Amino acid sequence: MRKLVVGGVMAGLLGVIALVPTRSRTDAQQPPTAPDSLTAYRLAAADTGSLKGPRQPIFFRHDIHAGQYKMQCQYCHYSVGVSSEPGIPSLQTCMGCHMVVSGTDSSHKTEIRKLRQFWSERDDPAKPKLEWVRIHTLAKHVHFPHMRHIKALGPSACQTCHGDVARMPQVFKANNVNNMGFCISCHVERKVNRDCTACHY
Ligand code: HEC
Ligand code: HEC
Ligand code: HEC
Ligand code: HEC
Ligand code: HEC
Repeated sequence: MRKLVVGGVMAGLLGVIALVPTRSRTDAQQPPTAPDSLTAYRLAAADTGSLKGPRQPIFFRHDIHAGQYKMQCQYCHYSVGVSSEPGIPSLQTCMGCHMVVSGTDSSHKTEIRKLRQFWSERDDPAKPKLEWVRIHTLAKHVHFPHMRHIKALGPSACQTCHGDVARMPQVFKANNVNNMGFCISCHVERKVNRDCTACHY
């Protein structure tokens, strides 16, 4: 009897996992339907000014996508394990779900409407393109390979440098990455290359 119950729970969990599809550009994407118990705060776009981090053209919430709906970071930042740059998802990646998902409360609906407008006007040169405000940027003379770090520290190491993004309604800089000491202290701890030329061009 007990086994049966556990089996049922496992099947349920597997069902939830299956709802978060591995990233694919062509497959029809099933939006996740079972939110986590970690419910995101109710916020309107007008509240963004009081949140940490820069205001973005669309109030896109990591605490909803990566937190409540448990979407993997790599679903959107798909090149983080294979390239220097993690990649910012294209509109097409968003629309894989937002052709269907139009939002429950009114502030979600308003922001998703903005997203759909950028999508429908994407080929019109007279209309503005969606441009996210970049938060972490190193000086040009520094080289930071994401993939080397993900391979060595694991796919969930994002938090070490970026903080708990899955709980951030608006992304902010949790660590000052523009401080050489931040890099060096971990390289010392882990006995990694500290030659000036490893990081500097
Ligand atoms: C549904 C797609 C999606 C998922 C899932 C997602 N992100 Fe993002 N991420 C974005 C978008 C779009 C931006 C640019 C807008 C912004 O900064 O909010 C971004 C921005 C960021 C930034 C700031 C980049 C900069 O400009 O410096 C970090 C850091 C980040 N994401 C980390 C994560 C981590 C860690 C996870 C997993 C816990 C994650 N993301 C999951 C779409 C996503
Ligand atoms: C795997 C499916 C999926 C993908 C991909 C996805 N979303 Fe969402 N998104 C959702 C779901 C589910 C909700 C919650 C809708 C609700 O309950 O209101 C949501 C909510 C939103 C909202 C309203 C809440 C909020 O975050 O402010 C916005 C805006 C939004 N998404 C933008 C985006 C953008 C921009 C991208 C691409 C970078 C994206 N979404 C990618 C599934 C997805
Ligand atoms: C060891 C520290 C470290 C780890 C671990 C790390 N990052 Fe970063 N991340 C950075 C730094 C530093 C930058 C700025 C890089 C630059 O300007 O060249 C950055 C930039 C970014 C950006 C912005 C890129 C852009 O093109 O706008 C995103 C998105 C991002 N990281 C996501 C992630 C995700 C997702 C993970 C985990 C899978 C992760 N990072 C793991 C340090 C880290
Ligand atoms: C949390 C620990 C940690 C932090 C913080 C960190 N690194 Fe690293 N870094 C590592 C590890 C571990 C490796 C070794 C990866 C490997 O063995 O391939 C590495 C490797 C590297 C390499 C490749 C070195 C080589 O062998 O040629 C570069 C370049 C680098 N890091 C740059 C940076 C920069 C720039 C920063 C700060 C913005 C930074 N790292 C922050 C842990 C870290
Ligand atoms: C693990 C990576 C790493 C190593 C190794 C490293 N640096 Fe840096 N360095 C950085 C980062 C990150 C910055 C900050 C860049 C920024 O402002 O975005 C920086 C900044 C600097 C600056 C600019 C001044 C400042 O403090 O912002 C100088 C000069 C510098 N480094 C010299 C050196 C010398 C000399 C060595 C060798 C003894 C060295 N670095 C080794 C990552 C590194």
